[in-house]
Amino acid sequence: MKITWRSPSNIALIKYWGKHGNQLPNNTSLSLTLHESYTETSVELKKKRKKTTPDIDFYFEGKKNEKFAGKVFSYLDMLKDELSFIRDHKLVIRSENSFPHSAGIASSASSMSALALCLMSIKTAMEKKSSSYDKFLQEASYYARLGSGSAARSVFPEFSVWGKTTAVKNSSDEFAIPFPANYHSDFNDLQDTILIVNDKEKSVSSRAGHALMNDHPAATLRYKNAKTNLSGLLSVLKSGDWELFVSIVEAEALELHALMMTSSPSYILMKPNTLEIIERIRRFRTETKIPVCFSLDAGPNVHVIYPYFEKKKVRNFIQEELLVFCTRKKAIYDGMGNGPKMIIDE
Ligand code: PMV
Repeated sequence: MKITWRSPSNIALIKYWGKHGNQLPNNTSLSLTLHESYTETSVELKKKRKKTTPDIDFYFEGKKNEKFAGKVFSYLDMLKDELSFIRDHKLVIRSENSFPHSAGIASSASSMSALALCLMSIKTAMEKKSSSYDKFLQEASYYARLGSGSAARSVFPEFSVWGKTTAVKNSSDEFAIPFPANYHSDFNDLQDTILIVNDKEKSVSSRAGHALMNDHPAATLRYKNAKTNLSGLLSVLKSGDWELFVSIVEAEALELHALMMTSSPSYILMKPNTLEIIERIRRFRTETKIPVCFSLDAGPNVHVIYPYFEKKKVRNFIQEELLVFCTRKKAIYDGMGNGPKMIIDE
């Protein structure tokens, strides 16, 4: 049996930063699912004689990759009792990203969700039980979360919410859910251009980053702000209030970095060009009144977020004013995506 899934990355508009227990979030997060930035993973099951420990061959972009393999092995080792086919077969896993590996883009959301979706397809095929597609995705989100928290959200199209909150019915810490209501048509096909300021690897892993929140002096304030920002964003997505959208999205990005800068040890992940781009986005917005804003992941690259109906003007601005601050003028023109897709099912 061989299963292949393509699963996208996502950018959190309300950030997940800080966790407890088995990958449970300290606050609710809300993300935009992307389209162009994805991982395609295939899992092939082969016969195996000794059914004791997992036997896995892992290839990244056609080659054996020790570093990524380590993460995949420990993930599968953790699941081997729950999903016994992991123990009972040899697994050949092949994975590739649509974006260059050195683009400095966090790939754990797309890669872990693609892998979890493959595991879920195999599980479903083996159980020979049919379940609804909604249930299938919920379970895939649960398993994706165990690999990487943000991956739980990549399983759903458009916007996704992860983490229990009274503000969103059926929300859960265990898995993400799709945005629970119709959002305003202004957000249709929301655009996200990722400006590659630096394509080196991150200097802090997200695992270490989350751990820094355990003793962070501003932790309580952070979770209070995340709650306020989430409730603001939930109503903004329904009302189409761009002014508030812009202020919440930027506040979340800056708070994530402020938390890293004030943790112990402290990390400054923004580069001078990150700040240069932020300043220019704000100036352009003031001068043109076009609702364009920025978001940041745990790194120096800038996500420029803007409505589809202003695509032309914003892209001109990006090309004329912002690309010079990118490494080799590199940018990924991404935007709202439809979620994962199964590619082959042999
Ligand atoms: O999924 P992780 O453990 O790599 O954490 C992701 C953390 C951020 O990307 C910084 C924020 C988020 O919510 O995606």
